[in-house]
Amino acid sequence: MTTEHFAIDARQLRKEFPGHVAVRDLTLTVPRGEIFGFLGPNGAGKSTSIKMLLGLVRPTAGSATVLGAPLGDVAIRRRIGFLPEDFRFYDWLTATELVRLHGRLAGMSPAQLRTRVPDVIEMVGLSQHRDRPLRGFSKGMLQRIGLAQAVVHEPDLVFLDEPTSGLDPVGRRMVRDVLRAERARGATVLLNSHLLSEIEVTCDRVAFIKDGEMVATRALGGAWQEGVRVVMHARGVSDDAMAGIARWTGSARLEGEELRFGVESEAVVADIVRHLVGAGADVYRVVPERASLEDVFLELVGEDRGL
Ligand SMILES: Nc1ncnc2c1ncn2[C@@H]1O[C@H](COP(=O)(O)OP(=O)(O)OP(=O)(O)O)[C@@H](O)[C@H]1O
Ligand SMILES: [Mg+2]
Repeated sequence: MTTEHFAIDARQLRKEFPGHVAVRDLTLTVPRGEIFGFLGPNGAGKSTSIKMLLGLVRPTAGSATVLGAPLGDVAIRRRIGFLPEDFRFYDWLTATELVRLHGRLAGMSPAQLRTRVPDVIEMVGLSQHRDRPLRGFSKGMLQRIGLAQAVVHEPDLVFLDEPTSGLDPVGRRMVRDVLRAERARGATVLLNSHLLSEIEVTCDRVAFIKDGEMVATRALGGAWQEGVRVVMHARGVSDDAMAGIARWTGSARLEGEELRFGVESEAVVADIVRHLVGAGADVYRVVPERASLEDVFLELVGEDRGL
């Protein structure tokens, strides 16, 4: 175990393809243990950024260290896991064989493989199919096995390029559980996703990328969440009770049993519930809705410029 503070420390990484700048300037530090999300429209440069950090694409300019080593350092690869965007593998292998192969490549011992391989296959929900060749797998099943191979060797740093693509709701929840497990063991994760709701519940911090440039980073739970909207369901809300809510919010609207309003912070929601109950209402459902990441995304990188 090394003690470097940043899992990723990238300085002005740039990638030009002939006639096209894919990544203009990637300057980014990701502390160890963080779950970091890349958000941006198609073609923004997210996958290219990941590939540069992995040493798979050579930057045109700039420099970076990954787990304390310069880009392309071969020894460090064993400590890195990667789920590519368009995951393809030898489809004559069974699920078990594929995951074993990746574990072996990362230097795991036979004893480690014996317990860990079935465990990760179980974790991604494919135990029943572990002895089937990948050629018969559906898109979502392949995606799951791709995730299993990315984490089988308990890497210190995991890159996941669209981990939930093709997955059903159960699969998406599984990805969330895997991310939580990765966080719990102290791994750093960098992921791309277009599913903003997934990013919202899993990431500590996000970067918004547009036209090869990071236009903003946000700590989730930070400033963008200001302005909480709440949907409350309550029976017997009197006119007086409604009038009293004005102490906390000017935007309350009641339709039938559904009461909607916006407040500065979630902290006052409990006060409002107390007030309503005190005024004789039965509050039976309270759902705080944060200003959604989608709103922020559309505002920062949203307008469609065509590809
Ligand atoms: N090998 C390549 N040769 C030429 N251009 C490339 C190459 N790889 C990527 N690009 C270009 O670089 C830009 C960024 O591509 P990249 O795959 O990084 O985008 P992305 O943000 O991952 O998009 P998506 O959300 O669609 O996966 C695009 O304009 C793409 O056409
Ligand atoms: Mg991509």
